[in-house]
Amino acid sequence: MKIDPRDLTTNDCYKLLIGCVVPRPIAWVSTIGQDGTSNLAPFSYFTAVCNNPPTICFTASRREGEKKDTVRNIEKSGEFVVNVVTEELAEAMNITSGEYPPEIDEFQLANLTAIPSDKVRSPRVAEAPISLECKLIRMIELGEGADSTSVPIGEVVRFHIKDEFIHAGKIDMEKLRAVGRLAGYLYTRTHQIFEMKRPSVGRPLHEDPPDLRDEEAQRRATRVQWTNLG
Ligand SMILES: Cc1cc2nc3c(=O)[nH]c(=O)nc-3n(C[C@H](O)[C@H](O)[C@H](O)COP(=O)(O)O)c2cc1C
Repeated sequence: MKIDPRDLTTNDCYKLLIGCVVPRPIAWVSTIGQDGTSNLAPFSYFTAVCNNPPTICFTASRREGEKKDTVRNIEKSGEFVVNVVTEELAEAMNITSGEYPPEIDEFQLANLTAIPSDKVRSPRVAEAPISLECKLIRMIELGEGADSTSVPIGEVVRFHIKDEFIHAGKIDMEKLRAVGRLAGYLYTRTHQIFEMKRPSVGRPLHEDPPDLRDEEAQRRATRVQWTNLG
């Protein structure tokens, strides 16, 4: 099937896009309003866009033509925090996605703990294994009128990673159990992990098989697809 997006309504385009761009990580964004009210909401149009400086962005559409609380808060404060959503936190994340008015603190609604950040005023989610404190670099506006979206681009000025989720500078993916969003009300887990080495162009294409005497390697070998590139 070929589809010309110009033949579709905004909502149909949205449905197609969220089905095609999968799975999407979820930025669980905490901000603070001018009156001091904490705000928390998930956004799955989210990705990392630069390593140096570490930079991430997400996208917030309009609600009845108006900017969402998250965007308003970021515009005023110039900062936000992205918290990572795990299986354990999925339900709480879902509660915070309701279209609540700005005076509602979603931390309280979802029974979550707001703790102070180091470098920004926005609080972070104490229960999240990872939180990224961000300073707004740029806010990009895309689209037009009620269909437009705001894309806050933020530099990560502080990583918070709970000790049990990081070893030798790498995040333990097995332990993290982050969730991703698919289309509609569907989500995906990240526990069926497999490994695939990239071709090492200009170097010998050889990958040592796992040492099955090692208990950890045995465990991994049950789920690792060894790519024979040699
Ligand atoms: C998993 C998930 C992902 C979402 N992703 C987005 C998104 O990428 N962009 C968006 O505008 N809304 C998204 N939403 C809806 C917002 O979370 C919702 O509009 C929320 O009320 C915004 O809160 P705020 O007004 O406090 O900013 C998502 C909802 C869920 C449950």
